[in-house]
Amino acid sequence: MTTLPGSVILVVGATGGIGREIARQLSAAGATLVLAGRDAARLEALGIPGSIVTGDLTDAAAVDALVARAVQSSGGLDGVVNAAGVVAFGPARTLPDDALEKLFAVNALAPIRLLRAATDSLTASAAAGREPFFLTISGVVSESPTAGLAAYSASKAALAAFGQAAGRELRRSGIRLIDARPGHTETGLADRPISGVAPSFPAGLQPGDVAARIVAALAAGERDLPSSAFAPPV
Ligand SMILES: NC(=O)c1ccc[n+]([C@@H]2O[C@H](COP(=O)([O-])OP(=O)(O)OC[C@H]3O[C@@H](n4cnc5c(N)ncnc54)[C@H](OP(=O)(O)O)[C@@H]3O)[C@@H](O)[C@H]2O)c1
Repeated sequence: MTTLPGSVILVVGATGGIGREIARQLSAAGATLVLAGRDAARLEALGIPGSIVTGDLTDAAAVDALVARAVQSSGGLDGVVNAAGVVAFGPARTLPDDALEKLFAVNALAPIRLLRAATDSLTASAAAGREPFFLTISGVVSESPTAGLAAYSASKAALAAFGQAAGRELRRSGIRLIDARPGHTETGLADRPISGVAPSFPAGLQPGDVAARIVAALAAGERDLPSSAFAPPV
């Protein structure tokens, strides 16, 4: 388990539908936040207490710099939530190169780089007797790769595989990796794809409910959040 009150948590993608709900709920639980996104004004407009760092996750150096500034501004991290991501729709044969590269840069490479950059700080947290974590949201597509979302599914499956292996590596250091795999969630993500057009989806999960399940899992020390952990919408 991780004691949330007093924990310092970096929330990457805090302007997003799921990220902002997680940030709000972590803040309400007493965590001290570092909010990360691309746009400082939009992060400030959230009205969630915390320091702010910015960076574009497609830029490897910017990912390192973002984590370094987060560690510097907070004095050290006890947790990282990566709630950033992009989606693209359409048959695999129609997917343009720029979309393919962005999918993998944001959904797979960025969280790998985030963990690499945050490992020293999270290790120090564990050595201080805290119970640090690194949370990813690969989503249901990493369990059930989906037609029309082949490259998105592949980028998320890469993230999930990385998390499983890195989690085994880091277990002895006392760092918990946890991957959340909710199904379709009503954040508007599907309405702003980097390529293609979304099919019509049945009603999805509510972002506040998804965030609540994730925050509960962080507090309870859970190590995995499969799609079955998220109650279907009623
Ligand atoms: N919504 C769903 O149905 C669903 C289901 C399962 C898993 N997920 C996953 O959950 C995560 C959050 O999804 P969401 O629905 O909350 O999406 P969202 O509302 O569109 O939020 C996406 C977040 O990612 C950030 N982002 C995108 N590209 C970035 C870049 N190049 N550099 C830095 N930040 C970038 C966005 O920042 P800006 O505000 O600056 O654009 C935003 O904060 C994603 O990884 C998504 O794949 C979503």
